[in-house]
Amino acid sequence: MKKFLDLGYQPLANSYLTKKNINKKEKRFNLSVGFDSKSFLVSILNTVPKEKMFNKNYPYKSSESFTMRNQFKILSNKIKKKFNPGLILEIGSNDGAFISNFNKKSVIGVEPCKNLANLTIKKGFRIFPNYWNPTLAKKIAKKNKIDLIYSANTLSHIENLDEIFNAIDLALTENGILILEDPSLLECIKNVAYDQFYCEHLYVFSTIALERILSKFNLTIFSVENIKTHGGSNRYYIKRNNNFIYKIDSSVKKNVIKERNYGLHKISTYKSFSKKVIKSKKGLNKIFSDLDKKNKKIIGYGATAKSCTVLNYCKIQKRLIKFFYDTTSYKIGKYLPGSKIEIKKYKKLDIKNIDYVFLGAWNFKDEIFKKEKKFIQQGGKFITHIPHPKII
Ligand code: TYD
Repeated sequence: MKKFLDLGYQPLANSYLTKKNINKKEKRFNLSVGFDSKSFLVSILNTVPKEKMFNKNYPYKSSESFTMRNQFKILSNKIKKKFNPGLILEIGSNDGAFISNFNKKSVIGVEPCKNLANLTIKKGFRIFPNYWNPTLAKKIAKKNKIDLIYSANTLSHIENLDEIFNAIDLALTENGILILEDPSLLECIKNVAYDQFYCEHLYVFSTIALERILSKFNLTIFSVENIKTHGGSNRYYIKRNNNFIYKIDSSVKKNVIKERNYGLHKISTYKSFSKKVIKSKKGLNKIFSDLDKKNKKIIGYGATAKSCTVLNYCKIQKRLIKFFYDTTSYKIGKYLPGSKIEIKKYKKLDIKNIDYVFLGAWNFKDEIFKKEKKFIQQGGKFITHIPHPKII
């Protein structure tokens, strides 16, 4: 693994501070990112024990976003039509945004964050409040093997990929389908979205890296969809090598070529990305200091884990961003790790008391701009660092 990016000493991105512990010393770790020229994997170099991140206090709920709910609904209909699976399993079922589109008898969720698992258990779903591993896979498959396994924005959080695919291999039927969905490395690199890297995002996958891992388990990608969620993601449709029901379509080769043309197989690409990240930091700092000189009132929108990386890497302090608005009930009244900026309950933006808004949840830009149409019409402005620092 060759290191190409150093984002400094960062706190745990989803460890929001409370009024009580705000003055306690936060644990920090060095957030560095590396590239492995053999496996083509891009991953963070110092990992944090999973129990410290995925526990009963996990703040993120998929159902709270309209974009995610809508995406899951469309995908569920597609799955029913195209694959008609008898039994579905979701790894990382969060608060049930995906599984709730299916009949309770035909779906199983696996969710180690107990607060989230409990929400779906209460609704009558069959949920295992555990980490996905071969022991759990065996236990589940003993009764019935799974026809379709789905996992979105979860694989990138799990360190031991061999264990994950081993477990998938144990649970999936012979002609079973695996659908994986995670942020796309190509989009991340192209958009200089360095904030896709934080303690929980151990990996950002490319098609060429995923192909290599899957081949160890006799699994093949037969289709790739480029989707808009989380700042540009890939949805991979995967089958066993000896499943001839589904043909490998042209999207797979197309994505591989796109990634190779951009140089995702070469360390030089990542080194040049790293230079762009440094430039991005300088650009963002300049925007903030210019607005500060003009005494502009700036707030943040979407207290994301991504913002935590940006604020701590760029050393943007409390003085510059008055507070963050967020819709997530768990985050309200708490403070962002590191910068200690307060998170307030979301209210529609109003030009009367806000001049500029830092787009923490830039991956929901379309949804947010639609919601804040009035603020924009009144002349309200947004600050973003994606794909380069600018005021919109
Ligand atoms: P997410 O995209 O998961 O970012 P990360 O993985 O980096 O934490 O989180 C989006 C956050 O933005 C979440 O806390 C909810 C918030 N949000 C709003 O407050 N308002 C909105 O309109 C949207 C779309 C998101």
